Amino acid sequence: MSKHNHLKKVSRSALTVALALGLVVPVANSGEAQASGGGGTSQQQGPQLQKEKPKVAPVPAKDQPNRIVTNFNGNTKHEMAFNWYTTHHFKDAKVWVSEDPNFTNPKTFKAKSKKVKSKYVERDHNGNFIFKDVKKDDDGKPIKDKNGKEQSNGYFTDKNVSGPEWTSGDQQGEVNLTSQTEHTYKAHAKELKPNHTYYYRVGSEDGPKSEVGHFKTSGKKGDPFKFVQYTDTQNAFWNEHARNEAQFGADTLQRATQTAGQPDFALHTGDFVESAEVEDEWKDIYDQSRPSFMSQPLAAVSGNHDERPLDDDNDDKLLDRFNRHVNVPKGNNAMNGGSYYSFDYNGAHMVVANTNDNKKGKDNPDGKAIGKKQMEWIKNDIKQARKKGSKWVILNLHKPMYSKSYHALSDDDVKKVRKELTKEIDDLDVDLVLQGHDHVLARTKVLQHTDTKNSFVNAKTEDVKQVKGKDNVKYYDNPKGSVYVLPNTGGTKEYDSITDKSLKHIKKVRPELSWLKRKDLDHYNSLFALGRQPQKTDAFKDKHSNNRDSSSQNFSVYEVKGNKLKVKIYQLSGDMTKGEPRQTKLIDEFGIKKDK
Ligand SMILES: [Fe+2]
Repeated sequence: MSKHNHLKKVSRSALTVALALGLVVPVANSGEAQASGGGGTSQQQGPQLQKEKPKVAPVPAKDQPNRIVTNFNGNTKHEMAFNWYTTHHFKDAKVWVSEDPNFTNPKTFKAKSKKVKSKYVERDHNGNFIFKDVKKDDDGKPIKDKNGKEQSNGYFTDKNVSGPEWTSGDQQGEVNLTSQTEHTYKAHAKELKPNHTYYYRVGSEDGPKSEVGHFKTSGKKGDPFKFVQYTDTQNAFWNEHARNEAQFGADTLQRATQTAGQPDFALHTGDFVESAEVEDEWKDIYDQSRPSFMSQPLAAVSGNHDERPLDDDNDDKLLDRFNRHVNVPKGNNAMNGGSYYSFDYNGAHMVVANTNDNKKGKDNPDGKAIGKKQMEWIKNDIKQARKKGSKWVILNLHKPMYSKSYHALSDDDVKKVRKELTKEIDDLDVDLVLQGHDHVLARTKVLQHTDTKNSFVNAKTEDVKQVKGKDNVKYYDNPKGSVYVLPNTGGTKEYDSITDKSLKHIKKVRPELSWLKRKDLDHYNSLFALGRQPQKTDAFKDKHSNNRDSSSQNFSVYEVKGNKLKVKIYQLSGDMTKGEPRQTKLIDEFGIKKDK
């Protein structure tokens, strides 16, 4: 029931000799990794290579509802959707929804359950992950015995691991995934009253139930509301014990919620996890985010990692994983994995696109980030929304059209769709485009679409007046174009703002950008009002990415009130793993004023 998966790893052939001599040796033999391992002076730190595979512990069963999330699915005035997991099956699973926290006269809604096979990384009895150190030849290919079985130098776990070589993902061996049968539940509350706070529990009549959560339904057109955005929490399992990335993701949402002061909902612009195949990662980010997930609905956008297998050479995407973990409308049949959908909130229209639609097929012969059917749907959906009188239209994408690291310029599927999508964004009068994927801070000026002969990225800045509001915030006065926002990441993996570096540096760290010319780069940079990577690290000297070790996270708060939409981007800092206090600082603020 287990499957081999290969991760990148360094060669450790020298260790084989030590093993043959019966020695136990540390695997991570870089001074830095060991020095930060745990404070001992003479004690060896870091992973210890051992001949025998440690005994594998069974995956613990959990029948207390877990991985709980509340999502928009349908009319946000009257409906709310729920998703959760248990190990064993509970036939009478349901959600109880009540107008008061004591649950007098609750409404109940039956859940639909589904048996699924989740995959967990093998752990030892201390809860540490087990890695195999595969014997490799000089070309890095696994050496096999005469029966075709991969030979190993031994095994190690992630006990006491730390340091950049580990957190970056370069030190892992091979892991086994073990399959566990679990059950997911989807429930859908209906006929709720608008603009009402509801309390809820999920679980089973006779079995375990969750604690009490709450959510609010939307109100009428024009009622003010606010939401927070965070993105790319993307916690990798191998850092669970080294430098827990999910802790930072959960903290970002918690602080965003606190800073906004009970937002109406949160938006996650994709890449919840590093590998969609590894259930440990979903569990970690969901369970640590539980207090925030249970106190507001989550508008979930599907990211490329949310369908990514553990073996990154494997092209078979895990197309059901995102939808296993959220309860949002499914895309149409042409859609290959993930979801796209929209919802109205107090007269604003939120469009959640799926930029993972890039599997080649009839609907998408060129492998664009968005296929034909989805593009048609986006157009019609926004047209309908405008017809209904939506004042604000906000488009949410995982993959950015404009950003300051490398993804927007080098992802082929984005390059192929940018011209068409930005033209639609302009024609359909989208106000804001909220993005993720590039793990960097980026906020554009007001942009309008222009032809490729004028701009290689099909954008020009709109010369639009800014007026100061009573709140001292500068509002773009009735812009025609759109602003694109990317609040870096809520996780610990960061990308350098490479477009601010020299052309030579850009081409060194991302050789696929060798076509980039100075004048193109200057034009591209002129589109941004804000762009930087808050983390300062030596890792950016010769690569574009850090070692998944940042303590600088970001989030943004969006407030819609009457004819004004205000955007605030915040910076978090402080290394939680060292017990440092977390600081929240406002770093960018602007607004859009629309009189019509
Ligand atoms: Fe991504």
